[in-house]
Amino acid sequence: MADHHHSAWTTSGAPRHPLLSCALMALVSFVAAGAGAGPMVLAADAIVFHVANKCPFPVWPASAPNTGHPVLAGGGFYVPPGKSRRVDAPATWNGRFWARTGCNFTANGGVGATGCLTGDCEGRLACNGSVGAPPATLVEVSLHAKGSSYDVSLVDGYNLPVAVSATGTGADPNKCAIAGCAKNVNAVCPPELQVTATGGGGGGGKTVVACKSACLAFGLDAFCCRGAYATPATCRGTVYSRLFKDACPAYYSYAYDTTAATASGCYAQEYVITFCPSRWGDEPGDGAAAAAAAQI
Ligand SMILES: *[C@@H]1O[C@H](CO)[C@@H](O)[C@H](O)[C@H]1NC(C)=O
Ligand SMILES: *[C@@H]1O[C@H](CO)[C@@H](O)[C@H](O)[C@H]1NC(C)=O
Repeated sequence: MADHHHSAWTTSGAPRHPLLSCALMALVSFVAAGAGAGPMVLAADAIVFHVANKCPFPVWPASAPNTGHPVLAGGGFYVPPGKSRRVDAPATWNGRFWARTGCNFTANGGVGATGCLTGDCEGRLACNGSVGAPPATLVEVSLHAKGSSYDVSLVDGYNLPVAVSATGTGADPNKCAIAGCAKNVNAVCPPELQVTATGGGGGGGKTVVACKSACLAFGLDAFCCRGAYATPATCRGTVYSRLFKDACPAYYSYAYDTTAATASGCYAQEYVITFCPSRWGDEPGDGAAAAAAAQI
């Protein structure tokens, strides 16, 4: 996909220079340790992500750095319903967050292993920098000292709604918020895009656990904004992207979606990523509440 910012999971995101990542991580640790005497406090050049789970079921959030940035929190962890996990990050971190659902890591990875129904990374709890398997809702983060930006992408599909906000001193709610969804995409996903799993809802029936994008499902240039469709003028929304847009107006519904919300120029020390914000939508003030949720 031409637009790197909303590219397919399979083509970006994995740390291609692990040694550089390690060097950066060492530098960050060095700066953090040297920044202040006394107890280990948050360095001035570090920020916090609060990863909150308001879903009525457990999720296994994951993150993967862009090239040259460190893996955060092992790249993946467990958050039970109603809980929140604190993740420290360098103030200039770039990468992605997503959530995995329906996980069982008993087999604990290995070639061809599968650990989760959605967003899986080779069956492991700690993704260690690997990107997940699409479809899954993707939070794309680009932190900068001169103002951070982030967005939510359904370019490769959807598994859960997510809202992003900033909290703490100086955070501007108008510049820092990405709202959740008005509808559950899985509930309106057409059969040709559905990812289903047995059980979950009881009765042994099939449940829709994720919804592929048309690009992921069909791989056609017109849906993926490739080839003759590699420009904003030629890659337009389709009946499929409009379905995503209707459910989640704030998200990127296809690579050249110009109507998505992008938080940009956001200055904050703390960011809140909330999976399943209330009632499939976002509520003002949710961010602070989610940040205050019981930490694990
Ligand atoms: C997890 O997977 C293991 C091995 O496949 C299985 O024995 C176990 O019952 C599963 N646990 C749950 C909670 O489904
Ligand atoms: C995580 O990735 C790094 C860099 O690729 C590697 O050196 C390390 O062994 C990995 N750790 C685990 C537990 O797989």
